[in-house]
Amino acid sequence: MPETQADVLQKIAEATDTPVYVYDGDAFDERIERLQNALSGVDHLICYALKANDSLAMISIAAHGGLGADVVSAGELLKALRGGILPSDIVFSGVGKRRDEIAMAIEVGVQSLNVESMQELDIVAEEAHAQSTVARIGVRLNPDVSADTHEYIATGRGDAKFGVPADQAYELLLRAHRDPNLEPVALSFHVGSQIFDPAPIFEAAERAAGVWRDLRSAGVELKEFDVGGGLGVPYMGETEFDLASYVDRLGKLTSELGATLVLEPGRWLVAPVGTLLTRVLYTKDIADRRIAICDAGMTELLRPALYGAEHPFTFITDTTGRKTGRVDLVGPACESGDFLGKDREMTLPEPGDLIAVGYAGAYARVMASQYNARPLAPEVLAEAGGWRVIRDRPVVDSLLDGERA
Ligand SMILES: Cc1ncc(COP(=O)(O)O)c(C=O)c1O
Repeated sequence: MPETQADVLQKIAEATDTPVYVYDGDAFDERIERLQNALSGVDHLICYALKANDSLAMISIAAHGGLGADVVSAGELLKALRGGILPSDIVFSGVGKRRDEIAMAIEVGVQSLNVESMQELDIVAEEAHAQSTVARIGVRLNPDVSADTHEYIATGRGDAKFGVPADQAYELLLRAHRDPNLEPVALSFHVGSQIFDPAPIFEAAERAAGVWRDLRSAGVELKEFDVGGGLGVPYMGETEFDLASYVDRLGKLTSELGATLVLEPGRWLVAPVGTLLTRVLYTKDIADRRIAICDAGMTELLRPALYGAEHPFTFITDTTGRKTGRVDLVGPACESGDFLGKDREMTLPEPGDLIAVGYAGAYARVMASQYNARPLAPEVLAEAGGWRVIRDRPVVDSLLDGERA
């Protein structure tokens, strides 16, 4: 009998212990190809948003798939470069870049530094001057649109901390145009994450196109029209994001502007290709439900605690003949908010069960913490022909590294 995915996950859990993140490298390749194909008729650059999953092995798959990177810190920039992404394919976004991070980005020659305030632009200009070079500048527009998503991941409203209003975006790019150490190249926006209805993205794009045209009239020719990321994934069986109409609409707009379409997807590329494997340690039957205490929780997957997000659960252990009921799947941390799923109708878990938490490839390991002094979980890359550990589980003693009493 051929080995099933469950067999492989079972073996990985036995070899590495739990909790552990497992990424399907072939599925990641396929998603990259799908997105590249959807964009094949459009002058484009896909900058993978490293914030979703910054594992070096995954970055290297992205690099092989011809992706650039969207980074927001010196650490992510370093990882993108180590993973094989060319500086000329990297955009540096982020609302709070430090001066040393800006200096590093200029030194390595990123494609564009997407600034979000006049104060930041001044620092970029000073650093470019100090390095006797020209820094390529993008400006992040706050498009003042509302996306239908969780408020913590909606980033395009007028009162958000991200970007600058249209009049300021215009001013910033004009200022960059007049500075010999700056070259204005991009206009960017990002309305939010986990979006299914592209209407606010299109609305934001029209606003950005207005700024783009005004700048053209003022003699400033930009190159990249950066629409950010945000493409939603069906965590709980929702319908898939409609790539074709998204690309069609934005592709038409950018070709009319004579621009390269830059996209910064993170979640869409990696969320579905990752699984968090956890084991049930104990169960308690209380009132109307079973509480199953797992060896993973908010420290490995923060999304349920942070946004009330839901992830699918699959038993890897054979549960034939078991009853179903209401279940809280919780973690071991000392917080009532520490859960993987609450009040879910599912097969009743038993101690020792191995459970696969799906769609854990994005915003999972990158948001992990060592709360309660528990070491981070390791990562495994599975591909046709085998699997390998791509990040070790730290030994408990390493929690004391760099500490002094
Ligand atoms: C500027 C920017 N680009 C890209 C992304 C990636 O978003 P997603 O993972 O939803 O595609 C984010 C996420 O917050 C972002 O802020």
